[in-house]
Amino acid sequence: KKDLLILGIETSCDETAAAITKNGREIIANVVASQIESHKRFGGVVPEIASRHHVEQITIVIEAALKQANVTMSEIDAIAVTEGPGLVGALLIGVNAAKALAFAHQKPLVPVHHIAGHIYANRLVTELQFPLLALVVSGGHTELVYMKEHGHFEVIGETRDDAAGEAYDKVARVLNMPYPGGPHIDRLAHEGSPVIDLPRPWLEGSYDFSFSGLKSAVINTVHNAEQRGEAIAPEDLAASFQASVVDVLVKKTVDAVAEYGVKQVLVAGGVAANKGLRSALEEAFSGLDVELVIPPLSFCTDNAAMIAAAGSVMFEKGVRADLSLNAIPGLEI
Ligand code: KG4
Ligand code: ZN
Repeated sequence: KKDLLILGIETSCDETAAAITKNGREIIANVVASQIESHKRFGGVVPEIASRHHVEQITIVIEAALKQANVTMSEIDAIAVTEGPGLVGALLIGVNAAKALAFAHQKPLVPVHHIAGHIYANRLVTELQFPLLALVVSGGHTELVYMKEHGHFEVIGETRDDAAGEAYDKVARVLNMPYPGGPHIDRLAHEGSPVIDLPRPWLEGSYDFSFSGLKSAVINTVHNAEQRGEAIAPEDLAASFQASVVDVLVKKTVDAVAEYGVKQVLVAGGVAANKGLRSALEEAFSGLDVELVIPPLSFCTDNAAMIAAAGSVMFEKGVRADLSLNAIPGLEI
């Protein structure tokens, strides 16, 4: 049987990425052009700047991926592209590049949901065992997704306001740290202790999340200390904030695993890079009969290998788009 080669394209936020997978699980090319430096001075992603960078980078990145894998477009079986959710102007660059290539080379086009991509990043590490539960934590998402088989996604909990990564980035801003703040808070948290009392947004009886109140509590703590002329140890504040976020994420995941009786727990998204979250999850699942999978850091943040990995499964399930494919910024999984 011939190898299945999928070209994945991802442009939903601030990374222009192209990758090629072989048979859904092996990466033969993985190219990511990050725009973080361009957005840093604004303290967050500026959509207009993101779109412009994607336009400049997309062809270069795709050509680099083909070169890295040493294949030509004629050898590619299908093109998988993120159709949403994300920034509309950013998504459109990837979708149109994919459509142009599909048309020019007469290749099937496979639309991929960005979150499905984050989840399937785990399949680049291990084979998925169903039923499974995925904890998706990124700058735009905080979701618990139940999967009973390939391509089937049931959101059992999601954020009602800020995503976990968004809360990290906003708290980092108050502590005068550069964007994206998540890794900086993570590092600082390990130098401090969780001695500051902050709320734990449990939302009892639901698998939903809410981090906006916690974020406000941190901001108020900083402002109140400033007004009283008191010094507050940033490392303790970072440690306290991280402890609150991690407690909630871990407890809800453990509860959902028990209720749904899954075989595997997958962690996905940029916040999966968090050292505090990784070690707390490892500890929570060490005594349980469930396999915990946390992908390496480079697969946690946005990349196109994850889109090719998800696209490969969708391709085999017969999912196709025609040239009327559009970007859908608020796409549901
Ligand atoms: O998945 P991703 O690259 O992009 C989205 O789809 O949103 O996630 C980026 C998010 C940012 O909010 C960033 O601060 C956060 O992931 N992040 C972290 C860490 N590394 C990245 N948050 C906490 N701790 C980290 N070590
Ligand atoms: Zn993402």
